[in-house]
Amino acid sequence: LREVAYEKDLAGKHLLVTAGPTREAIDPVRFISNHSTGRMGYAIAKMAMLRGADVTLVSGPVALEPPMFVKTVAVESAQEMYEAVMAEADDADIIIKSAAVADYAPAEVSQEKIKKAQGNAVIPLVRTKDILAALGEKKREDQFICGFAMETEHLLENAKAKREKKKVDMIVANSIRQSGAGFGGDTNVATLITGEGMRSLPLMSKEALAMEILDEAARGLHLR
Ligand code: CTP
Ligand code: CA
Repeated sequence: LREVAYEKDLAGKHLLVTAGPTREAIDPVRFISNHSTGRMGYAIAKMAMLRGADVTLVSGPVALEPPMFVKTVAVESAQEMYEAVMAEADDADIIIKSAAVADYAPAEVSQEKIKKAQGNAVIPLVRTKDILAALGEKKREDQFICGFAMETEHLLENAKAKREKKKVDMIVANSIRQSGAGFGGDTNVATLITGEGMRSLPLMSKEALAMEILDEAARGLHLR
């Protein structure tokens, strides 16, 4: 019943959120990926929907049920995520990039399974497109764009630098070194970094953190 009681402060707003890892194919049986489970992004999609937003979720491969009343677009690679996000970005009032996008992909995808040979192997990798930076480049005044920063050291300095470099409104900084934070699990510990400063939040559920992030987005767009 609580769920029908949420204030619909995001009614009429289009929110685009990305979640999960990407997979970069090496050959038909192997890929490069990371430990993202998609839970943070799915929590954001769900809470935004409950607050009345019109939600599009671009999701890498995860083992989660698509949230109800959310348009979910399934993608695999960073390139596919880039294309899906760019196709929706102009319509979005709020964009939240919680996906863990691979920074590198194999330079070539072998059409056949690579057979092992004597000795070691080297796979040439090329950089993927930085989706958040591309969004920051074409951000409109009436858009709120939020990225994440996952760090193992120098969390706040690195996250603050990412916000400035990618020209976005907010970075949600989280450390995988902190217990209760990071990949998997139902909780997270984060610091919200905006142009106004930093706000460190205590350990909380991913749904509660989603609400904090959405509150900042609503404030950024002067909805509250
Ligand atoms: N991101 C993206 N496209 C990429 C890489 C990252 O959109 N190709 C986004 C992520 O979704 C996240 C933010 O950029 O919102 C920061 O990701 P992170 O991996 O922490 O930072 P990077 O800029 O990739 O730098 P590094 O991995 O070297 O720390
Ligand atoms: Ca990265």
